[in-house]
Amino acid sequence: MYAQPLPRLHSTLFRAAWLVLLLFATGGCDGEEEWSPLEGPWDPNHPEAQAILAPPAADDPIDREMADAGERWYRVRGCLACHRVDGTDVVGPALNGVTERREYEWYRAMVMKPDSMLQVDPIAQDLARMYRVPMPDQGIGELRTRAIWEYLRRVDREGR
Ligand code: HEC
Repeated sequence: MYAQPLPRLHSTLFRAAWLVLLLFATGGCDGEEEWSPLEGPWDPNHPEAQAILAPPAADDPIDREMADAGERWYRVRGCLACHRVDGTDVVGPALNGVTERREYEWYRAMVMKPDSMLQVDPIAQDLARMYRVPMPDQGIGELRTRAIWEYLRRVDREGR
C-alpha cells in the first residue's frame, strides 16, 4: 500500500542517524585519537598549530598533558610492540635516550617517513642493518609524532 514505504524510510534514516552519532562518539575511524591541545578538535591550520608542533628547546618544561597523550598513542599506534623505554631492545632499539641522541627533525622524519629515511639516511641504514627489520610507516600524523616526542622527553627526564 501507499503508506508502507514511509515508515521504512523513517527507520532507515533513524539507523543512519544512530550510525552518525556512534561514529561521532567514538571519534570517527580514528577511535582513540581524541586528545587535542586546542580548545576544540585538532586543526593543523589553527593559528596556534605551528607553535604547538615546533620542536621544544632542551630546557623547556614537559607539557604533561601532551606527554600523557603521547604515551597513549605510543601504545595504541604500535610503537610499544617494537620499542621499549627501559633500555632493552626488542624488535627495534630501546627509545629511552632518543631525545638526547637525536634531533627532533631526524626523529620526526624517522617516524613519519621511515621508508625514505631507510633509503637516504646513513644512521637509519646502520640501524636497519643492526636490527634487520625495517621500521614500518605507522601512518601517524604530525600531532601524534610531536606528542610521542613529549612522552619520550618525559621518559628521558623522569624515567617514565
Ligand atoms: C615492527 C616494529 C616497529 C614498529 C611498530 C615501530 N618501530 Fe621504530 N624502529 C624499528 C626498527 C627495527 C628500528 C631501527 C631502524 C630500522 O631497522 O629500520 C626503528 C627505529 C626507530 C627510531 C630510531 C631510534 C634511534 O635509536 O635512533 C625511532 C625514533 C622510532 N623507531 C620510533 C618509533 C615510533 C614512535 C613508533 C610508533 C609510531 C615506531 N617506531 C614503531 C621497529 C619498529
